[in-house]
Amino acid sequence: MYIQGTVKEDKRSPTGFELSVKELEIVGESVDFPITKDQSIELLADNRHLWLRSRKETAILKIRSTVFGAIHEYFRKNGFYEFQSPILQSTQTEGGSTLFSLNYFGKQLYLAQTWQLYAESAIFALEKIYCIAPSFRAEKSKTSRHLTEYWHAEMEVAWASFEDIQNYGESLIKYIVSKVLENNLNELKILERNTSILQKVIDEPFIRMTYINAIQILKEKCNIIIEWGKDLRTFEEDALSQLYGNFIIVTNYPKIVKAFYMKEDEKDNSVVHGCDFISPESYGEIIGGSERESNIEKIKKRLEEQGENTEKYKFYLDTRRYGSIPHSGFGMGVERIISWICKLENIKDAIAFPRTMMRYQP
Ligand code: 4AD
Ligand code: MG
Repeated sequence: MYIQGTVKEDKRSPTGFELSVKELEIVGESVDFPITKDQSIELLADNRHLWLRSRKETAILKIRSTVFGAIHEYFRKNGFYEFQSPILQSTQTEGGSTLFSLNYFGKQLYLAQTWQLYAESAIFALEKIYCIAPSFRAEKSKTSRHLTEYWHAEMEVAWASFEDIQNYGESLIKYIVSKVLENNLNELKILERNTSILQKVIDEPFIRMTYINAIQILKEKCNIIIEWGKDLRTFEEDALSQLYGNFIIVTNYPKIVKAFYMKEDEKDNSVVHGCDFISPESYGEIIGGSERESNIEKIKKRLEEQGENTEKYKFYLDTRRYGSIPHSGFGMGVERIISWICKLENIKDAIAFPRTMMRYQP
């Protein structure tokens, strides 16, 4: 519609303004628009292409745009090159159970779970690199945190220590949140988001603890018993999250629960230099990262223990064969951080056209 009239402030209006119309011209007619008030979640999902126009989804998409811009800005300001890796890959990286495989001219290939193995090759050329790209996980569980296709912001840095990447992760999150507060106060208001917690994340240092500390704290403060060697599950991460109003960086997980490429701790080879950033307000793991194992024999052994054919990883093992150097990196689930910033009930609302096991249309 083309509308002409006068704009007046009016506190009763959701936007704070009213328009008194003088002239009106219909440009594109809309008959029986399927979305009316109080519709079911399923109907809104079926009509996602129309639901995007809603005030709530529009606000989320504007914040999402700020988040993507902030990630690019952060890495570029800090001397990173943007680097792209293939989506069609010949190996797993994050475990076989969430791999999507596809028939590639009679051969089996997989959709990327991560850029990591290719990034580890590229740091020898570019040293500090990042990407934002789709990652794919065949998640069979129905949760409010998992998509099968999500946007993954990843970074990899030559010579960086385990502590260096924890610091990068912390300052990246602070940068993203500060950009959202700078640009999207209106949108946060539409979403009825309490911004004091966002400010706190910017102002206060993240909490850092080892896996051993985390299981002790869960036992003492929450009466939750975790046997050493078991990964933290959703409700355990949430219980930890409830104790602190800030991000928690949990480090030094048992080797058996983490990926084959994570570096063994020199003093205790049952744990690895891997970390998870657990969000405040029970949104789970936002960042997963590690220092990378540099010893080729250790990598081969762990691949073999997982039943992998190391021949397929020749290109990756060559990064250790020809001048291995210390390096570290991480990946951040972009929809995960958007969900938390906007305090969404479900991660599906953090992306325009979500993909889950049950939802692939429109
Ligand atoms: O912890 P993940 O599996 O780590 C990696 O893929 C590493 N290769 C990253 C790296 O070191 N370059 O995944 C990283 C992050 C998680 O912390 C989580 O935020 C997000 O990706 N993520 C998902 N987000 C939405 N839906 C899913 N199914 C996700 N799986 C992981
Ligand atoms: Mg992880």
